[in-house]
Order: sequence, then C-alpha cells, then structure tokens
Amino acid sequence: MKQLTIDISKLAPFTDAAAMTDIQEELTNSHRMLTGRTGRGNDFLGWMDLPVTTDEAILTRIIADAARIREMAEVFVVIGIGGSYLGSRAVIEALTNPFQSLLPEPGNPQVVFAGENLSEDYHARLLEMLGKREYAVAVISKSGTTTEPAVAFRLIRQHIENKYGKEEARRRIIAITDASRGALKTLADAEGYSTYVIPDDVGGRFSVLTPVALLPIAVAGFDIRALMTGAAQMRETALRSSMLAQNPCAMYAAVRNILYRQGRSTEILVAFEPVLLYTIEWWKQLYGESEGKEHKGIFPAGVTFTSDLHSMGQYIQEGRRNLFETVISIEKPSQELEVPADSHNLDGLNFVAGKRLTEINRQAELGTMLAHIDGDVPNIRIVLPALSEYYAGQLLYFFEFACALSGYTLGVNPFDQPGVEAYKKNMFALLGKPGFEKETAELRKRLA
Ligand code: PA5
Repeated sequence: MKQLTIDISKLAPFTDAAAMTDIQEELTNSHRMLTGRTGRGNDFLGWMDLPVTTDEAILTRIIADAARIREMAEVFVVIGIGGSYLGSRAVIEALTNPFQSLLPEPGNPQVVFAGENLSEDYHARLLEMLGKREYAVAVISKSGTTTEPAVAFRLIRQHIENKYGKEEARRRIIAITDASRGALKTLADAEGYSTYVIPDDVGGRFSVLTPVALLPIAVAGFDIRALMTGAAQMRETALRSSMLAQNPCAMYAAVRNILYRQGRSTEILVAFEPVLLYTIEWWKQLYGESEGKEHKGIFPAGVTFTSDLHSMGQYIQEGRRNLFETVISIEKPSQELEVPADSHNLDGLNFVAGKRLTEINRQAELGTMLAHIDGDVPNIRIVLPALSEYYAGQLLYFFEFACALSGYTLGVNPFDQPGVEAYKKNMFALLGKPGFEKETAELRKRLA
C-alpha cells in the first residue's frame, strides 16, 4: 500500500536547508519527549497507540452494534460537540456520496448531528424530521457534563421515549463516555443504556480512533478495520524516526514552526475536494485547541477550492501577508468523468474536451499554488493516494502525531484546553445556574 507523503519542494523561497538543519534538533527533542512520554500532558497520550492496542473485541462489538442499528434505523443521530463529533463527521463526509440521501435506495442510514450547537430552530427541525423516520441515537461526551450535547440529549430522549416507548428507546440509545465519571455515565447506568468507554488517557480532540467516531463511521457503512490499519501504518512511520526526511509528521511540524517564527501566524488548510470540508473542521479543532494558548499558536483556517477561490482567493493572493497554505492533495479520484466535446463550442471550452475533471482540478491546484507563492504565500502539500478508509486512517494519525510534535516544538502543552472554560462559566452565570450567583450579578451589570 502507498503512503501519505509531504511535499515541501515549493517552500524554497521561504525557507532553506539551513533552517531545516537548525530545527531538526528541536524536532528530535519533541519526538523524544512524545515517544518517551516525558512532555507536558503526558497522561493524555493514549491516542498514540490506539491503532495497535484497540481490543479486537471492541471492534467486533462496534461492527455488530452498527449492523443492528443499520437494520433498525434510517437515521442515526450523533449527539456530541468538538472532538465528540468532528472526527466521525470528517470521515463520514469524506467517504460518503454527497447525494446518497437523495438516491431512491440510500442503502446506509443517514448520519445526522445534534448537540454541536444550541440553535432552537436546528433542534426543533431535527425532532420534526425524526418524528417521520426510524432512528437510533449515540450520545457522546468524554466529560459527560458538556451543556450542548446534554441539552440535545434531554430533548431527543424525551422524543425517542414518546415515539417508541421506554423499553424500545433503551435499545436505540448508545452512550459513549468516561468509564466512571460524569452525568452521562450516571444517566446511562440508571437507564441501562448500552455504553462504550472513552479511555481516560485520550482527550476529546484525539478521540477519533475510539468508539466516539468508530461507531458512527461503522453505522455509515465504512470499514473501521481498514481505517485502523491505515492509522497503524502511519503510526509505524511516525514512531520510527524523528528525522525530517523520514517522518512526514516531523517535517510538517518543523515547517509550520519555521514559518510561524517568520510571522506566518495563520495556516490555511486547503482541499480541492468538497467532501473534505469536515476534515478541515476536525483539523481546525485539533490544531486550534492544541496550540492556541499562552498567547501563542498558529491560527488554523480552512478553505475548499476552487469554490473559495471566488471568495477568499482575493485575500489569500493580496491581503495581509501573514499566511501559509497546506493543501491536502488527493492523487486518485474514485469516479471518472470527462468533459464532452461540443461541435458548436459556443462556450469556448473545447480546449478541455476529453479531459477528466480531475485533470482540470489538478491544473487549478498547481496554478493556484504558483499564483499564491508569487503572492508571498508559502505552500506545503500533503499528498494522499486516494480517499478511502485506509488513507483516511493515515491522514488522521498523521495530523494527530504532527500536532503533538508541533505543540511541543512551540513550547505548549498540546493536550489541555484551559481556555474553553471561560465561556462556559459566563453562560452558566447568565443562565442562573446555582453556585454562580456572584458572577451572575457581575455579568448582568456589564451587560446592562
Ligand atoms: O478536545 C476536547 O477535549 C474538547 O474540545 C472536547 O472534545 C469538547 O469540549 C467536547 O467535550 P465532551 O466530549 O467532554 O463533551
């Protein structure tokens, strides 16, 4: 099987061999810290071994549960926020025919998401749709205390119990949470829901290779064993060496830090396949929460081209020069489509007649890369042989390992997220949660 590669050949105007040599030692140290488990946040390194330590019995159980859900449900509702939904959404959207639900026989249950926002309209419309469909639910929260999914689950639990009765509803609900703590665990135990455990040493945004994402991915009809095998292959490469030339994760972490130190404080992750939109969202959380702290960190942004060349393209070409781009380039599409010839050629497009769309998309990618380099935007390419479960596994593990190395090289703890608490405290105070009386008064005064 082929492997993901990183192409930095067009970085020459922005960095040189000397910079690479200089940063190699730092990467070697970060690699040693990570693999020797001596760095900050080292009690959250369980994700590193998931591709090889995940019990076969767990995978078998997930596949069996997925088959049961596929039998009983047209819709599978995944309730979760942040790392508790982005990983599954990224993989499912990357691999699913975007028009699947409109086909006469969709084949797989439609996976939909809830509790990743607090919109009344969104959830009311979801419940309305669920009234007309057979459905099942996964409620996912590592902490078991996050407000958004808890609110959504309260609504959906009432709905599913009213629709199917308590006994049948219990068969249709699966909780994925901590082994022993949190309100969701208490509720799941009290109600007798089937549960999966998120390991203690795996943080939310690093949980894509746990039941958190594996169950929804399996329900959507994808091969989770192939996903894990792809991740295992990338793990082997990532662990084997810290040398930039031999380890694409180390190389990516190194060039990001080199560019950041030159004042490139925004990284744009670019995809030329629209199904990668949620891969970009997953990556944004992974890098944003892991590195954005202590007033440091690269701001992770994302675009899908060529659509966004007609919106963000202008800024990238000529706006403030603090950017660099990382392009996820897919080598081989799964479909074939040629531009037809037209004897009238009124649209003047016969120069591309007979060409595959992929070839046109590829030239758009290369042309954009060169234009942006000319506009002073450094370009990194991550080349993935194809979009499949196996290569999705490689890509996920690549980004996770590189993120950990990059965070250590930046000098932060990549595995905590202290800043996420600030908004929660204010929201609780403004909602009048008991215990927040002092903060409630202070905030209301500020808002008056
Ligand atoms: O990376 C993280 O830990 C967070 O972003 C979480 O994924 C997110 O806050 C959801 O948390 P939980 O799964 O505990 O509900």
